[in-house]
Amino acid sequence: MEEEKYEQTIRPKLIDEYIGQSEVKENMKVFIEAAKIRGEALDHVLLYGPPGLGKTTMAYIIANELGVNIKTASGPSIEKSGDLAAVLSSLEPGDVLFIDEIHRMPRFIEEILYPAMEDFTLDIIIGTEGSTRNIKIDLPPFTLVGATTKAGDLTSPLRDRFGIVNKLQYYTEEELTQIVKRTSGVLETEIEDEAAKELALRSRGTPRIANKLFRRVRDFALVEGKSTIDLEVTKKALDRLKIDRIGLDETDKELLLTIIEKFNGGPVGIDTLATSVGEEVSTIEDMYEPYLIQIGMLKRTSRGRIATGKAYEYFQKNKQGTLL
Ligand SMILES: Nc1ncnc2c1ncn2[C@@H]1O[C@H](COP(=O)(O)OP(=O)(O)OP(=O)(O)O)[C@@H](O)[C@H]1O
Ligand SMILES: [Mg+2]
Repeated sequence: MEEEKYEQTIRPKLIDEYIGQSEVKENMKVFIEAAKIRGEALDHVLLYGPPGLGKTTMAYIIANELGVNIKTASGPSIEKSGDLAAVLSSLEPGDVLFIDEIHRMPRFIEEILYPAMEDFTLDIIIGTEGSTRNIKIDLPPFTLVGATTKAGDLTSPLRDRFGIVNKLQYYTEEELTQIVKRTSGVLETEIEDEAAKELALRSRGTPRIANKLFRRVRDFALVEGKSTIDLEVTKKALDRLKIDRIGLDETDKELLLTIIEKFNGGPVGIDTLATSVGEEVSTIEDMYEPYLIQIGMLKRTSRGRIATGKAYEYFQKNKQGTLL
């Protein structure tokens, strides 16, 4: 809850405050502007990418820039056709319906969504066995914004119904530095440039992590009586939090070292690996792997996961898994 409140406060509200993702941003500006000129609902938007890169933030920005209401739901929470009907019929023309974790929506709900997305009609069956009837309800034109960390889990008919598909990328060090500085401004806590850069470097390319670490570093500075966050306190806090010099946390390290030391570098199946490190398969797939793949330390092959030469080098290991 505390976490949510914090995210709310620092979440950018306007598209120009949204740092990085320049391609997505520039395109969205055009589509939003065009929809406004035409006086029509914006086409449906799919946002996908690893956790914490700004999907929810972008969904709210889209509604805000369009000047419409946003209603939210999450895939697994829509259990009955009535749940979907209720939220759809509460929409006003041009509104945004944001469905988070859209890949986890039940299949039969998805099928009700198709005509809603295409023709703005709701086809539902009411009544009980033996005496059912179909009803068709007209919906106002609306924009569905769907977010997912696993685009591969979407069915193609659903995916095809999004006119605008945006993939969010990991942020660069400069972009994360800007995000840290922006957060420091919003929270009225000064941070030195070098310290902001250090935080950026150790945030796994992810704004949510940068902001979370900022908050922890701020605690250390406060307790040490520092009014400005400097490099020294930043490094100290991050080391205490066991975030290594390139931003890998304990689980990242454990994953890679397990592959190197217990499985001779792999390939090792994801289930075996998950059991070995005591994490859920989906946690590894959604939260950890994408970044390790991005920085070239891990590879996904048809036979399982392997640790790359870069990982061996980073941990100073030889092929036997022992220290060089
Ligand atoms: N482009 C950005 N510029 C500035 N801050 C950002 C940006 N993107 C994200 N953030 C910050 O990072 C936090 C996490 O972003 P958000 O909640 O939108 O991620 P998400 O992709 O929806 O994550 P999840 O997959 O876990 O739902 C937000 O609170 C926001 O403050
Ligand atoms: Mg989100």
